[in-house]
Amino acid sequence: MSAGHILAIDQGTTSTRAMLFSVTGHCDIVAQQELQQHYPADGWVEHDPEEIWQAVVNVCRQVLAQAAQKGIQVTGIGITNQRETTVVWDRTTSEPVYHAIVWQDRRTADFCHDLRRAGHEEQVTRATGLLLDPYFSATKLRWILDQVPGAQARAEAGELAFGTIDSFLLWRLTGGRVHATDVTNASRTMLYNIHQLQWDAALLALLQIPVAVLPQVKDCADDFGTTDPELFGTALRIGGVAGDQQAAAIGQGCIDAGMIKSTYGTGCFMLLNTGKEACSSQHRLLTTIAYRINGDTRYALEGSIFVAGAAIQWLRDELKLIRKTKDIEELVAALPSNRGVYMVPAFTGLGAPHWDPHARGAIFGLTRDTGIAEIARATLESVGYQTVDLMTAMKKDVATGSWTLRVDGGMAANDWFLQFLADLLDMPVERPDNTETTALGAAWLAAVQLGLLPSLSAAAKNWRCAARFSSEIKENDRTELLRGWQAAVSRVASERA
Ligand code: G3P
Repeated sequence: MSAGHILAIDQGTTSTRAMLFSVTGHCDIVAQQELQQHYPADGWVEHDPEEIWQAVVNVCRQVLAQAAQKGIQVTGIGITNQRETTVVWDRTTSEPVYHAIVWQDRRTADFCHDLRRAGHEEQVTRATGLLLDPYFSATKLRWILDQVPGAQARAEAGELAFGTIDSFLLWRLTGGRVHATDVTNASRTMLYNIHQLQWDAALLALLQIPVAVLPQVKDCADDFGTTDPELFGTALRIGGVAGDQQAAAIGQGCIDAGMIKSTYGTGCFMLLNTGKEACSSQHRLLTTIAYRINGDTRYALEGSIFVAGAAIQWLRDELKLIRKTKDIEELVAALPSNRGVYMVPAFTGLGAPHWDPHARGAIFGLTRDTGIAEIARATLESVGYQTVDLMTAMKKDVATGSWTLRVDGGMAANDWFLQFLADLLDMPVERPDNTETTALGAAWLAAVQLGLLPSLSAAAKNWRCAARFSSEIKENDRTELLRGWQAAVSRVASERA
């Protein structure tokens, strides 16, 4: 029997995966299931929590069955998840009272706008490190409690539970015995005080959120209970939980101050570890919790871009300009330049550092000979420009850092894109040998809790660089490219930003 493996559950925006890791980070078995997206109105994005739950059970069962066949012993589970996505369920039946409202959903933009105009943004930022934006869970929770008949009263009576996806999964996995979350997920709700490390009473009062709906907040490596034996034929201990971007930072070995990673999934999320200091941004980045282990809290500055890989999917699925995502590399590399075409993928508004939920996407610089390749290139380039916007803000906020960017996620497989990033950032860009950093981070957290690894530092020693890209363009060319982007992005800004 081969010992010491962790089952990592990665419940993401577009798919649910289960992966089995050895402690060194080797992935032995993977199972994956796509997740249907629901768009009931302009700017609304929902998931069916029952579909998520079924997918989690399915992929875990597939991996566990293969592990059993191979004689691999599974020590426990780590969970990582799309953050901010909000679920409210009935504590007795475990049934959700409404679909999960996804982090991309903008339905509460006007409510956020009103709160901002009433002068509440400073209070929000001081307590939570976040900005007043529909991205975070709090206003989504408020919406559900307002719109589902009787929900507010039932929440006050302790009949309903709120959680991000990790909480919902913990509840279901433990057969309703555990209503908990970890600090990284809590720090994305806009209800959690990241300095006092507790739910913020003043914000709960402002948004009229009853304390009775809230989960218990734990460390990232902690005792999150055991799975209901009926689910997987045995009770497995759940030892690690972290939001997917924080988990990716851990899987990238960015556990010390000054280290930066960027994950290119549906969106792009750049995290700079600021160590024990919760650095507050002067440039509209977020302050968030990187991780907490044994009560030791580490913070991060985060830049969040809502559309990264999703823009490439849009080229493939909506415009049908490419057949497969990987076709884009060859298409754009054949062009000598972007020919002055810029695309701003503000499909669901703009995230950091612009924070404009009302902005919408646009393409600029079209001429009679603009073709598929130019539009594809402008779309791919837009992810690079947005990364520069984040990095520029980070450099202004924090004087010291390693200023080497570790990248992962689907787009990190694209060499052309990584070279373009290094050119624009004028900074080394590194791709690790193991790009499954999100699930790996969750596995490492559980491995620490369950005694398979002595510490996260020991885990991070397994990180290996597989490819390194350095800038190869002239300063003037970089300036010219960035000027074109800044002109384009300024033109999509809404008047209400
Ligand atoms: O904050 C949202 C983020 O956690 C979603 O990540 O990988 O599902 O796009 P992803």
